[in-house]
Amino acid sequence: MFIFKTVKDITAHLEAQRAQGRLIAFVPTMGALHKGHLSLLQAAQQLPALTVCSIFVNPTQFNNATDLEKYPRTTEQDIALLTGAGCDVLFLPTEQEVYPDGKAVKEPYDLGYLETVLEGAYRPGHFQGVAQVVERLLQIVKPHKLYLGQKDFQQVAVLRRMIDTRQLAVQLESVPTTREPDGLAMSSRNRRLTESQRSVAGLIYQCLVSIQSKKGMQPFAVIQKECRELLIHKGFRPDYIELAVADTLELLPDYDPSRKMVALIAAYIGEIRLIDNLVL
Ligand code: PAJ
Repeated sequence: MFIFKTVKDITAHLEAQRAQGRLIAFVPTMGALHKGHLSLLQAAQQLPALTVCSIFVNPTQFNNATDLEKYPRTTEQDIALLTGAGCDVLFLPTEQEVYPDGKAVKEPYDLGYLETVLEGAYRPGHFQGVAQVVERLLQIVKPHKLYLGQKDFQQVAVLRRMIDTRQLAVQLESVPTTREPDGLAMSSRNRRLTESQRSVAGLIYQCLVSIQSKKGMQPFAVIQKECRELLIHKGFRPDYIELAVADTLELLPDYDPSRKMVALIAAYIGEIRLIDNLVL
């Protein structure tokens, strides 16, 4: 695996590959890699393409300084994992390489309604930072395909919108969520859970499954209330438990069988905020 730390070096390498007609498939990450990240790489490897991963803990998408400071950084392990998984190129830039002109978003992205609900409402500015870093990385890597995880359902919608409005020539692929045996969605933040927090963390997925399985049997409000009470009883502090139209994330007061729906939960356990979702 080639590892590049500067825009100049990765650009030269990728230009040469592109000149030979190679397709480029790109998996952006913030590191502390796990099987969920590797599933994106595996999806990219289905193509006859050069696979490029990036690891960059993007400061502009953290709306909480402690979360940024405590975000796990495991670069040596990550390099070993990516090498073992057959990744072709790793981009490991510094902040200076990503934001040579400073971190301020020059022209705010018009993310519309998406920025006002769910993660948008609970993490002000977060999606501006996500759009900013991904647009910058796309500018550098210029991939044909971009691989994102459904685990961050709203992030996929935001980036689809950013790509459309900026008319970027990249195709977006979204990959299903990889889970632990108890259903907990794999996440870099899971490393920070204590043993007792970890032992209850699967409850978020159980709530999503119960929202899915009770569709058409009970009003959503009843199940939402049950889930909230159960989560609180087990020590979580839920931010939201919502049902939405999958394509637009328009919130639904109740099940609507005529539309493709997604259930989404965000909850704190201790100081760790976990998010997950399930398409119904
Ligand atoms: P990060 O949380 O490292 O995730 C990188 C990619 O892996 C994202 O597309 C995310 O949705 C996907 N992913 C994470 N956990 C997953 C799981 N359990 N199953 C499947 N895919 C999973 O998301 C980010 O980084 C950042 O916001 C980024 C897009 C890199 C911009 O900084």
